[in-house]
Amino acid sequence: MAYRLLIDPPEHPDVSNGYLDLLDEMPAGEKNTGPIQALWASRLGSLFYDNAQLVARRLLTAWQEPTEWLNLPVGGVALDVGSGPGNVTAGLGRAVGPGGLALGVDISEPMLARAVAAHAGPNVGFLRADAQRLPLQDESVDAVVSVAMLQLIPEPATALAEMVRVLRSGRRLAVMVPTAGAAANFSRFLPNFGAHLFDDDQLADTLEELGVASVRTKMIGTVQWVRGRKP
Ligand SMILES: C[S@@+](CC[C@H](N)C(=O)[O-])C[C@H]1O[C@@H](n2cnc3c(N)ncnc32)[C@H](O)[C@@H]1O
Repeated sequence: MAYRLLIDPPEHPDVSNGYLDLLDEMPAGEKNTGPIQALWASRLGSLFYDNAQLVARRLLTAWQEPTEWLNLPVGGVALDVGSGPGNVTAGLGRAVGPGGLALGVDISEPMLARAVAAHAGPNVGFLRADAQRLPLQDESVDAVVSVAMLQLIPEPATALAEMVRVLRSGRRLAVMVPTAGAAANFSRFLPNFGAHLFDDDQLADTLEELGVASVRTKMIGTVQWVRGRKP
């Protein structure tokens, strides 16, 4: 089912690891070479993250999934960009039901391996691809969610534009990032850990520039949710 959504379906698909690998060598400017992404790209880091996010999702409202708000149609297609260990993707799979499809996209092989082992199934699948160049056709999905990924992307506006491009008209997207509020302005004085700190309005402004309507932001502690609808 995922194949029909692809811009350029491969003739000989590589699914040897349980996910469809579509990642070509990333151009230098699109690659995060910082220590945080290096951690998420390692086996140990992905193990640590998987356990930490489970605890965070049990305890903290900010980390809970926005599945209900996305208003997913049963039988629809949902996309989780930067899906990590795949828990959010699995939640989207439950929401769309057995006739739908939830797709997780990530660049980290260890994260994808964990996601496949724990959550892949008839209506939940994973792709290895870059958020800045989603391999999906325009207007091919019914919801997009991206949790704690945009801060790692060298070109976050490009990744947001990609999310909007693949979203069907009238449908919703929700992104979550760690934030430092006004202190984000001072982050340039800190050592470069390879993670961007957004100021309060940055993502909302970008989504509005991309034509997204009803953009809403919500700060919960040091986390920000930004949501909107494609007109
Ligand atoms: C902090 S984890 C969040 C994982 C998941 N969304 C969650 O909430 O549990 C960030 C994830 O974004 C992925 N990521 C980083 N850069 C990416 C890119 N350019 N394209 C796709 N995924 C990316 C990382 O590999 C990592 O799995």
